[in-house]
Amino acid sequence: MSKPLRLGIAGLGTVGVGVVKILQAHGDLLAQRCGRRIEITAISARDASKDRGVDLSPYVWVEDALDLAGRDDVDVVIELIGGSEGVAKDLVEKALATGQHVVTANKALLAHHGAALAQLAEDNNVALAYEAAVAGGIPIIKVMREGFAGNAIHAVYGILNGTCNYMLTAMRETGRDFDVILKEAQEAGYAEADPSFDIDGIDAGHKLALLSAIAFGVKPDFESLQIEGIRKINATDIRLAEEFGYRIKLLGIARRFNGSVMQVMEPCLVPLSNPIAQIEDVYNAVYVDCDSVETSMLSGKGAGEGPTASAVLSDVMDLARGNILPTFGVPAQSLLDPRWADIGDTVSCYYLRLCVLDKPGVIAEISTILRDHDISIEGLSQHGRDPDQPVSVVLTTHETRRRDMQKACSEFANLDSVLEEPCLMRIEALS
Ligand SMILES: NC(=O)c1ccc[n+]([C@@H]2O[C@H](COP(=O)([O-])OP(=O)(O)OC[C@H]3O[C@@H](n4cnc5c(N)ncnc54)[C@H](OP(=O)(O)O)[C@@H]3O)[C@@H](O)[C@H]2O)c1
Repeated sequence: MSKPLRLGIAGLGTVGVGVVKILQAHGDLLAQRCGRRIEITAISARDASKDRGVDLSPYVWVEDALDLAGRDDVDVVIELIGGSEGVAKDLVEKALATGQHVVTANKALLAHHGAALAQLAEDNNVALAYEAAVAGGIPIIKVMREGFAGNAIHAVYGILNGTCNYMLTAMRETGRDFDVILKEAQEAGYAEADPSFDIDGIDAGHKLALLSAIAFGVKPDFESLQIEGIRKINATDIRLAEEFGYRIKLLGIARRFNGSVMQVMEPCLVPLSNPIAQIEDVYNAVYVDCDSVETSMLSGKGAGEGPTASAVLSDVMDLARGNILPTFGVPAQSLLDPRWADIGDTVSCYYLRLCVLDKPGVIAEISTILRDHDISIEGLSQHGRDPDQPVSVVLTTHETRRRDMQKACSEFANLDSVLEEPCLMRIEALS
C-alpha cells in the first residue's frame, strides 16, 4: 500500500467533528477504496479544552490554525473554520503557497476569492477542492466538473438553502407566518441565531456563484448576483400560490441569456407539477440543463454534519487517488470575465400581492398602472372584504419584461391606498 495521505484539520465544529468521526469509523474501508490510508495528523480550533464528543488525543493540537500550513506532516489542509476573510482565507492562501492541497467547505471564501485562489493552487500544482461548499451531500461539483464535462451547459438551477426550504415548507404545512416559523426554526437548530445569511439568500447566492463558474467557465462573481431572500413572503402568499397551482421556492438560477449569463437568487413560484416543487424541508435539489444529457436533477440533504463531512471526504479521497482537477473545471487563467445579463430584460409571468384599503376605485388605479406599463393580467382576485381592514389584492400576469413589472411596482408603492411594499415574485416555468 502507498504511504498514507496526511490531513491537518482547521475547525472542529459541526463539519470538522463529522470528518473526524467518518475517518475513525471507516478508516479501513476508505483505505481499501483509495489503496492507501488517510490519517489525521494535526488539528486546530479556538478552544483546546472543549469536549467535542470525539477522541482527539491521537492528533497533534496546533494552537494557531495558520501553523497547519507548511507543516511537513500535513499533505492536505482541511479548512472548516468559515468566513470569506480572516483566518480561513489566510490559512488557505498560506497552505496553497507552500504546496499543500486544500479541501474546504467554505462557499463564502470561494464565492468572493475563488478565481485568485484557483490561480494560486495551479501555480503551486496543488488542488483546491470544495465539494462540501455546495449542497452538502449532493455531489454536484463532481457531477458538473467531471460527469458532464462533455456537455455544453445551458443552465443550472435549484434549491440551495435548507433553512429557507424548511421554513417555506413549515409555513405551508402550518399556515403560520414567517416570524413564528423563523423562531421555531431557530429553536429546532435549523436556523442560526443571526439568520440573515440564510433567509436573505446570501448563503445560497455564494453556492450559485460557484455553480455558475463551473457551468460557464467564468470567474465566480458573487457581487454581480441579483439576490433576494424570503423575508417578504407571508402565509397568504404560500396559500394563494397553491391555489394558483404553484409552490414558492427560494430558487437560484444561472442561465445563458442573449449571449451573456444571467444569475439570480430569489423566491419564485414553481409549477406544482414540476418535481422541484416536491423538494421539501431541509432538502436541496440541483438541476443541470446540458446539450447531450438534457436535464438532470440531483436531490439530497444540503447541510448538517454527516452530508457535509461526507462531501469533504469525497474530495480527500480524490486526492488520495491522485485525481486533481482544475478548481472550476478549466485552467484558472482561462476563466472568463463574464458578461452578466441585465435581468431587467428578461421576460416572465409574475405574481403580485398588494395590501390595500378596500375602497371604490382601488382596482381601477391598479389596472391603470398595469396598462401604462403594457402589463397584461392573467388573473386577479381580492381576498378579504372589510372597509375598515386592509385586504390583499392578488394578480398574476402574462409574460412581462421584468423592468416594466418593477416600474409598475414602484408606482403601486406610491399609491395612498397601498399600505405595504408590494410582494412581487416571478413565476418560473422551468422549461
Ligand atoms: N454546518 C453545515 O451544515 C455546513 C454545510 C456546508 C458548509 N459548511 C461550511 O463549513 C465550514 C464550517 O462550518 P461549521 O458548521 O462546522 O462551523 P462551526 O460549527 O461554527 O465550527 C467552526 C470551527 O472553527 C473554529 N474556529 C473559529 N475561529 C477560529 C480561529 N480563528 N482559529 C481556529 N479555529 C477557529 C471553531 O473553534 P471552536 O470550536 O474552538 O470555537 C470551530 O471549531 C463553514 O465554512 C461553513 O460555511 C457548513
